[in-house]
Amino acid sequence: MLVISIAMDQNKGIGIKGQLPWHLKEELQLFKSNTIGKNILMGQTTYDCLPNKLKERHTIVCSIDPKYHTDNDPDAEVIYDLNKFLNEHEFDEEEYIVCGGASIYKQAYPYCQKALISFVKGEYEVDTHFDVFDMNDWNITKEVEHDQFIYREMTRKNDKRNILVTGCAGYIGSHTCVELLNDGYNVVGLDNFSNSKPQALENIKKITGKEVKFYEGDMLDETLVDRIFSENKIDAVIDFAAYKAVGDSVKKPVEYYTNNVSSVLTLLSVMKKHDVKSIVFSSSATVYGNKNPIPFTEDMPIGGTTNPYGTSKVFVEKILEDLYNSDNSFNVCVLRYFNPIGAHESGLLGEDPNGIPANLLPYIDKVATGSLDHLNIFGDDYDTHDGTGVRDYIHVVDLAKVHIKGLQKIEHKHGGYYVYNIGTGQGYSVLDIVKAYEQANGIKIPYQVVERRPGDIDTSYADCSKANRELNWKTTKTLEDMCRDNYRFVTNNSKQ
Ligand code: NAD
Ligand code: UFG
Repeated sequence: MLVISIAMDQNKGIGIKGQLPWHLKEELQLFKSNTIGKNILMGQTTYDCLPNKLKERHTIVCSIDPKYHTDNDPDAEVIYDLNKFLNEHEFDEEEYIVCGGASIYKQAYPYCQKALISFVKGEYEVDTHFDVFDMNDWNITKEVEHDQFIYREMTRKNDKRNILVTGCAGYIGSHTCVELLNDGYNVVGLDNFSNSKPQALENIKKITGKEVKFYEGDMLDETLVDRIFSENKIDAVIDFAAYKAVGDSVKKPVEYYTNNVSSVLTLLSVMKKHDVKSIVFSSSATVYGNKNPIPFTEDMPIGGTTNPYGTSKVFVEKILEDLYNSDNSFNVCVLRYFNPIGAHESGLLGEDPNGIPANLLPYIDKVATGSLDHLNIFGDDYDTHDGTGVRDYIHVVDLAKVHIKGLQKIEHKHGGYYVYNIGTGQGYSVLDIVKAYEQANGIKIPYQVVERRPGDIDTSYADCSKANRELNWKTTKTLEDMCRDNYRFVTNNSKQ
């Protein structure tokens, strides 16, 4: 269970029902911006003090029953109730925010992985809250001094988990490292640079000011993988390392199955040896094949893939499922990505394939930067709104962020197997993309329509409601952001 605690005040003044103490206005802003869509636990006193508008907009799971309040010591009863409540209920499905004054905070403390705390200065002593817990256990990750109070975000030190990211220098891996480091995780990385460059690691450091503890080498190398687990106390693995070019996989099936399937077997056997049981795996929408109806939902049958790349993802999903069935204490989160595009807004990380790109956005980038003179649109006679293929494009930063949600889903669990579609749920055609790219960047993308590409389907988009609901995650970036960030990265990169 992840509990985020927001201590909203010092408990002096808030007790007057319906009246907000002078300093609470700013705290309410914090509350509003940090709690949307989350489940909130709070005591009756805090609940009474919240404006009605906020109550309507938020899911307040438990406003602690007023029957526990007493006139002489309301907080004592709230404490009792919160403890009881947290202990008695199955809370590990969700992320919770616990709001209230110091007493609530004190009770939420044992369950907290993250805390948002505001302190009142002046009349009150600044660090009074700290006597309820040991500051040595916490890292202050952000501190902003306001006129009347200090706002701090803190993460538990001993919750700074060590995550092994395989394929950490690649397109999605590098963006995920940024999000992990920014969120307070330690990242141990493995990559053989078969499809990436060491520069990505430098750029992760430039963006975050933090370093990935990096191992260069192959995930097929069991001795190396074993050494990584021996030298680091790994809590969970996010596995990106794989080959991913569909066309190439048809020509080199053995290489693809070896790299994408055998390497996972190596990883899993080392994980077993070191008793590491949490893994987030990069799968793909391609596992749905071409027989399922649109939009794809996680309960549809997988398989019917038409190339070794896609089949390698089906195989690994099956292996992970069998592993979980054999040992229910494994925590597996399979993320089926739709079409990741976009780049980090710094312009330092993005996708830059060698040679002539097979995918739409990298191809458009090459046209935009003048390396190729026009885009070939593969068919305009599909059953879609303008005849060109429709896909579910997702910004790589939104995608990177969902890995943290996936980790949170499994990291405090004692076994579970979860599969999620990761897209926006919205389909755009090739022509929609061309127009959006032109508008976002003020440039022209010349194109011509050519024959359909063998194996393409007309439409692919996700039903992402399961991820939205269970992971408490939503995409935030627009198609314009994706096109603008892509172009920024390639123009930046072609200058390097
Ligand atoms: P990428 O090629 O940019 O990144 C993969 C990284 O893994 C590269 O840095 C590569 O050097 C490394 N690597 C490959 N084999 C390795 C090995 N045996 N040992 C060590 N390192 C190795 O690809 P990406 O787009 O970041 O994709 C990451 C994952 O997401 C892959 O598993 C891919 O199949 C999956 N995926 C990608 C997409 C997409 O469109 N990008 C869609 C669905 C799923
Ligand atoms: N397209 C063109 N011209 C191009 C490239 C692509 O018109 O030069 C069209 C395709 O026909 C398709 C759309 O643009 O309609 C998207 O094509 P991509 O190759 O970018 O993406 P796909 O959906 O075909 O495949 C991608 C990955 C697969 C992955 C799948 C689902 O390449 O590995 O998304 O995640 F399985």
